[in-house]
Amino acid sequence: MKISKQCEVLLHDEENLAENIINLLNDANESAKKAYAPYSKFRVGAALALETGETVLGNNQENAAYPSGLCAERVAVFAAKANFPDGVISTLVITVLTDIPVKQGFTPPCGSCLQVLWDIQNRQKTPIEIFIKGADNQIYSVNNVNQFLPFGFEL
Ligand code: THU
Repeated sequence: MKISKQCEVLLHDEENLAENIINLLNDANESAKKAYAPYSKFRVGAALALETGETVLGNNQENAAYPSGLCAERVAVFAAKANFPDGVISTLVITVLTDIPVKQGFTPPCGSCLQVLWDIQNRQKTPIEIFIKGADNQIYSVNNVNQFLPFGFEL
C-alpha cells in the first residue's frame, strides 16, 4: 500500500501571461529591489492579489541575528492577513534579484513559507495560484499550494 501524489508545474513565456500577472510580476520585481538582504545578497519580492483586487507586497527582511529575518512570501501574506483578515488570496507572484547562481531553473517558496501558504489556503477554501520568475527568466506556475506541498501539517 502506498499514498502517492503528483505535482504539476507549468511553464509560460512572459508575453503570453494575463495582464494582471504581468502587473504583479512588475510589482514583485520592484518590491525585490527594496528587500533587506545584505547577508545572503539574495533579494526576493512577493506580490499577492486578493480576490477583491487589492495588491499586497513583501520582500525578504534579514537580520544580524540570522534566524530572526523573514522571507518575502511570509512578509507579504502576513501583511495581507493583518490588514485584510477576511481577504482571500488568489494569486502570489515571486521574483528574485541575485547574482548568485541558483541550482534549479526557479526557486519555489521555502518549506516554512509553503506551510504558511498551505494553512491560509485551507482556511480560505480557495486555491492560491503561485507564479515564479525563474533565474532563466521563464515563468513557472502552480495552480494550488498543494502542488509544492502535497502533505501540509494540519491539526
Ligand atoms: N528567501 C525568501 O525570501 N523566500 C524563500 O522562499 C526562500 C528564501 C530569503 C530568505 C533569505 O533572506 C534569503 O532569501 C536567502 O535564503
